[in-house]
Amino acid sequence: TDLSKIRNFSIIAHIDHGKSTLADRLIQVCGGLTDREMSEQVLDNMDIEKERGITIKAQTVRLNYTARDGETYELNLMDTPGHVDFAYEVSRSLAACEGALLVVDAAQGVEAQTLANVYQSIEHDHEIVPVINKVDLPAAEPDRVAEEIEEIVGIQATGSWQEGGSVHTSAKTGLGIEDVLEALVARIPPPQGNRDAPLKASLVDSWYDPYLGVVILVRVIDGVLKKGLEVRFMQGGTQHLVDRVGCFTPKRTDLPDIGPGEIGFITAQIKEVEQARVGDTITTVKGGADKALPGYKEVQPVVFCGLFPVDAADFEKLRESIGKLRLNDASFSYEMESSAALGFGFRAGFLGLLHLEIIQERLSREYDLDLITTAPSVVYRVHLGHTKNEDAKVVDIHNPADWPDVNRIDTVEEPWIKATIYTPDEYLGAILKLCQDRRGVQTNLTYVGGRAQVTYELPLNEVVFDFYDRLKSISRGYASFDYEQIGLREGDLVKMNIMVNAEAVDALSLIVHRSVAEERGRGMCERLKDLIPRHLFKIPIQAAIGGKIIARETIAALRKDVTAKCYGGDISRKKKLLDKQKKGKARMREYGNVSIPQEAFIAALRMG
Ligand code: GTP
Repeated sequence: TDLSKIRNFSIIAHIDHGKSTLADRLIQVCGGLTDREMSEQVLDNMDIEKERGITIKAQTVRLNYTARDGETYELNLMDTPGHVDFAYEVSRSLAACEGALLVVDAAQGVEAQTLANVYQSIEHDHEIVPVINKVDLPAAEPDRVAEEIEEIVGIQATGSWQEGGSVHTSAKTGLGIEDVLEALVARIPPPQGNRDAPLKASLVDSWYDPYLGVVILVRVIDGVLKKGLEVRFMQGGTQHLVDRVGCFTPKRTDLPDIGPGEIGFITAQIKEVEQARVGDTITTVKGGADKALPGYKEVQPVVFCGLFPVDAADFEKLRESIGKLRLNDASFSYEMESSAALGFGFRAGFLGLLHLEIIQERLSREYDLDLITTAPSVVYRVHLGHTKNEDAKVVDIHNPADWPDVNRIDTVEEPWIKATIYTPDEYLGAILKLCQDRRGVQTNLTYVGGRAQVTYELPLNEVVFDFYDRLKSISRGYASFDYEQIGLREGDLVKMNIMVNAEAVDALSLIVHRSVAEERGRGMCERLKDLIPRHLFKIPIQAAIGGKIIARETIAALRKDVTAKCYGGDISRKKKLLDKQKKGKARMREYGNVSIPQEAFIAALRMG
């Protein structure tokens, strides 16, 4: 295709502002699918994405659009993941485009996620076309939102799109969709590239397809990719034979080649996504490029937890299921782990909490596994002093079970993040308190209109568990949150053990800052007191640091017959109690001689 007829763009939007609906409309207008096929949103593939409305894997669609100037254009629409956990994949997708549509809800206005993504887009020198969506809503205020975009984002948004302003749309009714396409063609610059130069293609994304093996999404910079070509992955160092070249319209369509400036997919008999790392550069084995494209990064998991089957007999099933998930997701890692009380399981690493939840949900839903998830942990860098027999050394610890002996620890460093929170004024007080309680350091606070934007530096371990849930609940869902990692800082961290009936429960032990240890310990003991059913004997629950008990609760002993108090009462209530007791049993773990229900492991960690 003639380079001047190509437009590569992505859509940036805050969750729920209408990105997927708009994408579907663009596909529909360009005739990529029939009405029946359109009935389901096409870009969000996985069930979980659909249910939660979050885009996880980037997908790209090629559209042919015949513009009002009579010319036909090749539009490559790149869908990007909508969550901070997948920031690196987003950056690689953005690097493959020359422009972006910035979709803003006409009733909601600019939100934190919008801002974070738009800044990234600006960093990639994108031409940004603002799209004010949902203008059909009674609460829509497109003019106010246009001004807000100018004020906060700093790009022109007032005026008509022909004058460099924004396009007004309703992705729901179909209003303004052709204007979006016209604005794309008119305002987003075509890509540049040289067909005769050595091949350089950027690996934008990869996923596992049961029929095709690993499918690789590429953006060709220079040269041409075609079937039969022997290619080399410059960072991965492997060589492969290209056996298929094509694009998605969104149906998979084979193509003779992918030229400079174009986006498409290849397959090359690759069995594991691990071998097709996002950000790698693909070149030819013969006469290839000598320098890789910039921007390659190896993504590292930042949040770890243990995954154990509730029923020990499910271990093999868990091993198999985890292996299958990993086929499709190179950013998730795992290794076998055994715990005194939980038996055999896996220690798994994730890009963030949402990533963890997605994997956990897929294991329970798609593979029908009941799991116990231990407390999420970040990676601590522990500096150990020398002893008589050993030199001083530095170790990275992501499992509280591996925490070294206190006497050997010189210092501990923990990862910190910079969080940007964007909220309506009225919730600011509660949000500041939350950040303060989580050891946050405020670095900025500004007001725009009736909203506040606050930035905090926070230790990652204070955020991994339930920060996001808490933020959403205290702001009734209005506050938005975005973060980036800013490196390690020294902290006074200690390991807290939880003892149930005098026995340490390894799945509940966690690393905490000394200043909050007592409060957390007390909170956990109180919650566990409610979560663990009464037994025939008295059960002490204690939180301890080293040998020192910092909190304690006691579960009173149970009278022998649960239904005793129902004597003379009605029979159905009695039956209910027995049923409940039976059900409870199926999802319990025996700890020493105490049964702990599955829910308790996670619920105990929620910080009230
Ligand atoms: P993520 O995938 O989570 O980022 O969300 P999204 O930005 O893709 O939003 P999506 O397209 O799923 O739309 C969110 C909700 O807004 C859905 O219920 C849509 O039906 C609705 N919606 C989208 N566009 C419009 C519109 O123009 N008008 C109205 N009234 N509703 C819309």
